[in-house]
Amino acid sequence: MPTYGRLPVTFSRGEGAILYDTDNRPYLDGVSGIAVTNLGHQHPQVTAAVIEQAQKLVHTSNLFRIDLQESVAEQLRAMTGMENMFFCNSGAEANEAAIKLARRFGHQKGIETPHMIVLDGAFHGRTVGALSATGNQKIRQGFGPLLEGFLHVPPNDLSAIDALADSRTDIAAIMVEPIMGEGGIRPLQTDYLRGLHARCAKQDWLLIFDEVQTGNGRCGSAYVFEQLGVSPDVLLTAKGLGNGLPIGVCMAKGVAAEQLGPGDHGSTYGGNPLCCAAAQAVLRTLSEEPVMQRAEAIRHRLLSALNSHIQDPSLIAEVRGRGLMIGIQPTTATDQIVARGLDKGVLLNIAGGDTVRVLPPLVMSDEQAEELGATIAAVLNDIAQQDDCA
Ligand SMILES: Cc1ncc(COP(=O)(O)O)c(C=O)c1O
Repeated sequence: MPTYGRLPVTFSRGEGAILYDTDNRPYLDGVSGIAVTNLGHQHPQVTAAVIEQAQKLVHTSNLFRIDLQESVAEQLRAMTGMENMFFCNSGAEANEAAIKLARRFGHQKGIETPHMIVLDGAFHGRTVGALSATGNQKIRQGFGPLLEGFLHVPPNDLSAIDALADSRTDIAAIMVEPIMGEGGIRPLQTDYLRGLHARCAKQDWLLIFDEVQTGNGRCGSAYVFEQLGVSPDVLLTAKGLGNGLPIGVCMAKGVAAEQLGPGDHGSTYGGNPLCCAAAQAVLRTLSEEPVMQRAEAIRHRLLSALNSHIQDPSLIAEVRGRGLMIGIQPTTATDQIVARGLDKGVLLNIAGGDTVRVLPPLVMSDEQAEELGATIAAVLNDIAQQDDCA
């Protein structure tokens, strides 16, 4: 079904931060499969782990113990402080698990119709539950009836949360992306996140962080909550965890970790040996090698090159994000940026309609980062010049 507006290019191989098309033309990867190949293409450890596991055992189902799943859970526990994990195959499924978990928590507190607070502009996935939590009208439109039980409020507005706390007794949880990705790389204010944490503690609500896009090293730490000084009750990951192999996890601690028991939820493929072998190699690489530390250095190189090559600083309204989750909001129109980038051999993406979303891999070299920044500047310069001539 034509659900994607695809670009006219097909890639046949990749290496680090470079993808090669079927004519062997190289492209600098500024999107990482939308925050998936955080360790670049064909990362040696991940590739070796997948090959080795494929030769041993790919799938058994969750009817049996899966030692690799237990070992990934152990790694995640050590990295996040979360206690129990549910393994699935994608970000949307991690969100679905969290929605069920929060509803179960609400029911156990005696709430008949538990509600979850979510944010305008948020993105949590395309399945019906995750879509119901998503705050982007364009994505939701035409798919009603969506699920009940979500209260949509504006981001960074604690008074909207307080108004709900004062007026309702049926709230079980708040779910947010610490940096709204699809919404245009819009970080939530740290004070706001701390305020959410305090209100959840006071009201006995669960705080759920959707770190599907921010996680797995992308922002310079395993998960971005570590940098914010706010630890959620439930933490969702996917995307970069398998570096391209499909895996998602709903992690929980404290009372949240006790909500789902045998028979309450499931997934045929979730946490199978092959995907867990990839995740184990990713987490090992993130924790044992100096790779996450590269995020700030690459960001700095890229943005310095952008600033030094842009002909007119007023072409850039704002730069947002953390580490290698970079949002560049230009003052020019954004509709030609991706195609012009492709012409110049760089892969870019637009998020939130008005923002160039740049998500390079952590393995990008300084020179590649400079080239990417300079090329983005060249694309914006060209568009501005064309507008001037028009
Ligand atoms: C924050 C967030 N949550 C959930 C999802 C959905 O993930 P998936 O496409 O793996 O279902 C995404 C995907 O972009 C995302 O960015």
